[in-house]
Amino acid sequence: MAMAMAMEQGPQQSVEQFKGQARLPKFAVPRRYDLSFKPDLSACTFTGAVQITIDVIDPTHFLVLNSAELAVRDGSVSFKSHYFDKELRPSEIVLVEGDEILVLKFDEVLPIGTGVLAIGFEGTLTDRMKGFYRSVYEHNGEKKNMAVTQFEPADARRCFPCWDEPACKATFKITLEVPSELVALSNMPVIDEKIDGSLKMLSFQESPIMSTYLVAIVIGLFDYVEGSTTDGIKVRVYCQVGKSNQGKFALDVAVKTLDVYKKYFNEPYPLPKLDMVAIPDFAAGAMENYGLVTYRESALLYDEHHSAAANKQRVATVVAHELAHQWFGNLVTMEWWTHLWLNEGFATWVSYLSADSLFPEWKIWTQFLDETTGGLRLDALAESHPIEVDINHANEIDEIFDAISYMKGASVIRMLQSYLGANVFQKSLALYIKRFAWSNAKTEDLWAALEEISGEPVNLIMNSWTKQKGYPVVSVKVSADSLEFEQSQFLSSGLTGDGQWMVPITICFGSYDAQKKFLLKTKIKKLDKLDFSDASDISHTLVEQGGQRKGGQSWIKVNIEQTGFYRVQYDDQLTAGLRYAIEAKQLSETDRFGILDDSFALCMACKQTTSSLISLMSAYREELSYTVVSQMISMSYKLANMIAEATPELLNETKLFLINLLQFSAEKLGWDPKEGESHLDAMLRGEILTALAELGHESTLHEAVRRFTAFLDDRNTPLLPPDIRRPAYIAVMQTVTATNKSGYDSLLRVYKETDLSQEKVRILGCLSSCPDAAVVLDVLNFILTPAVRSQDVVYGLGGISRKGRETAWIWLKENWEFISKTWGSGFLITRFVSSIVSPFSSDEKAKEIEAFFSTRIKPSISRTLKQSLERVGNNARWINYIKNDKELGEVVRELAYRKY
Ligand code: BES
Ligand code: ZN
Repeated sequence: MAMAMAMEQGPQQSVEQFKGQARLPKFAVPRRYDLSFKPDLSACTFTGAVQITIDVIDPTHFLVLNSAELAVRDGSVSFKSHYFDKELRPSEIVLVEGDEILVLKFDEVLPIGTGVLAIGFEGTLTDRMKGFYRSVYEHNGEKKNMAVTQFEPADARRCFPCWDEPACKATFKITLEVPSELVALSNMPVIDEKIDGSLKMLSFQESPIMSTYLVAIVIGLFDYVEGSTTDGIKVRVYCQVGKSNQGKFALDVAVKTLDVYKKYFNEPYPLPKLDMVAIPDFAAGAMENYGLVTYRESALLYDEHHSAAANKQRVATVVAHELAHQWFGNLVTMEWWTHLWLNEGFATWVSYLSADSLFPEWKIWTQFLDETTGGLRLDALAESHPIEVDINHANEIDEIFDAISYMKGASVIRMLQSYLGANVFQKSLALYIKRFAWSNAKTEDLWAALEEISGEPVNLIMNSWTKQKGYPVVSVKVSADSLEFEQSQFLSSGLTGDGQWMVPITICFGSYDAQKKFLLKTKIKKLDKLDFSDASDISHTLVEQGGQRKGGQSWIKVNIEQTGFYRVQYDDQLTAGLRYAIEAKQLSETDRFGILDDSFALCMACKQTTSSLISLMSAYREELSYTVVSQMISMSYKLANMIAEATPELLNETKLFLINLLQFSAEKLGWDPKEGESHLDAMLRGEILTALAELGHESTLHEAVRRFTAFLDDRNTPLLPPDIRRPAYIAVMQTVTATNKSGYDSLLRVYKETDLSQEKVRILGCLSSCPDAAVVLDVLNFILTPAVRSQDVVYGLGGISRKGRETAWIWLKENWEFISKTWGSGFLITRFVSSIVSPFSSDEKAKEIEAFFSTRIKPSISRTLKQSLERVGNNARWINYIKNDKELGEVVRELAYRKY
């Protein structure tokens, strides 16, 4: 290797000037990569060579590019300018580890113009599920390695030296030398194959211009199924040998989705083929590599006999999401990670569009409210961040793949679409895609396209949503001749922030035919008689609501269909009117959801009593909407946990109330699927029975155990179809104790015997719900064993029972070193922190947790830890508030024993 020479002085002369920078200097940029790799799958190493055609834009002595964990081969680095016919060798090669950059210094100045930089290097196939890594699978009873890449956000540099930034787009020509019996895939199709004994040399067609984070390679043994779009694009789903039937559903979705997007974006899928591959070890859910999308098995494979309706929906939405990126992200790419939400928020939103057109019966736009509520939940924390967030170092990128970029991002897009209208919106997107195809864009560029087509001040409106964190709660007050709106920043701590937004307000008066909308630009706005003069039914509703007939048979709902990203707090009269509307079944699913969820959030923030929330919930007894009931169930868990801490004497009655609340729908759905029933009913049944099992409902537990016993004898028994396995597993774990573990042992046996990832994940997600802390400890220790793939460990952390909480915390502390070593380099580590820390509910605990992490904090978990601790504080505050709720006991008791 070239010797490091003494540092020269002067700003243009020193390697130092390149350290600690967020982004690479741009005096030279890549145009084309000619890459070749030869992996050794047994030794888990690889050798590579790259020739990068670069444009020198400013004369320079330096080339600065990214590289990490790669050994540059001695004497392998050279630069050949097209200007003069000689090869230059760097006088200095410095790998700056902390910044993951490779600085090459040349004694001669590199002139403006094109040149070729050649580098030979070596690396390791790690187990860290990023860069170029190995994944393990079994074939004919034998363990084998496959080699896989995962480069987003900034790990292409772990595979080859490159300008590893989204705006440094280039073309890629890839060559692989691999064992001849294996399948090797990359972004583009193979154009040449030479077999040389046990090895083969594969050349892939050169890619169009694209970002480094989208380059991909997969090498292993696979089967596939194949289809084709109406344009003749070949689509394949690759999976482990013997599982190709399980790829058919995703294949069908992909083929149809490509056609949907072609129409929607008014732009065909631009590559000659699309491959989708199931990878047994995969950190994220899926990755949109251009032309070669990689997935967790559970997000791609669908087994007719053992996958649940929820699994099917997950496969369809993940595929739709990743294919949306082929346009939004791959063809048009964010200029920098600050605009990550343009990728993720959009792909999330667009995936609903596709799922809705393929499966209208799923009512997927109603389910979209799970995204909105997820965004609202995180964004109510003081420790949230704006959608557009500054990124100053590569290690800060991982943490912004969060509910803000995805869920809030998708929700503000939906809000804007509904404000501008679907037609205008689609036209603007098509314009944006055309304008920035094969290039990069910023958030403002999208707003400009929307502004051009719509004529609305999109930039002004949207800046208030993407450049500041948080969102408003809009309080609404009614009088006989006016409606008053006031916005203030909503925080789940109950404090009020000082943010202000441009809020698209929509109002519905007693019927979906009487609507009004306006943009709330100021803190307060009063709509009076004059504003309503055009519609007499509106003034009529107002008089009824605000006038003499208090709580009359009329209602006013704000934020129609919940398309706005904000909360609404109604005055007492409006609240009474809405309750009437719910009971009289006059509101849509989405509006019923919104009223419930806003009320829950206000309650958590101590702005509305828990007794009033419980009383509102009782109006939802006859609710049969999957999305609304699921939301009510997740609220119920939280509520029961808080009441257990605050007023334990009310816990049993609270559970009785919640069981009572679910009886109506439980009886309607029963245990057995009905002939020809809907997808949503199948999912709802699972949710309700799970909740009843968690709440300790005796006959549910009993029936579940009976069915589980039949399942143990026959995995195909009609008594336990996939949609009701989760409730059965949860029920079984409620019966397990440290001295009688047979149910647990049986579940572990099913876990070990199945080769379906979805089944393993389903089981993992139920184990720690056991109320016996000693069993929870067993479960937590189990998830750290090799029996559980490191990608799946997070499922075992979900749903830890209240009684296992303290044990889990002690376990986390005791195992922190191992956990941090094993998962610390990826984003999965954050889940250990959030799952175990956030459910606590006392300030003392928060202090203890803070103290533990004070010496162990790293950039990759710092935001998550702060958010989790904030949640603990909020829980503590809520508990105090519940303790002071004088009406709670009476309300709970009355509803617990009410006969319907
Ligand atoms: N681009 C992401 C994958 C990713 C996530 C890369 C985090 C690096 C860090 C991909 O498009 C994605 O968003 N996947 C989701 C699934 C999707 C359906 C929401 C995921 O992995 O959870
Ligand atoms: Zn994505």
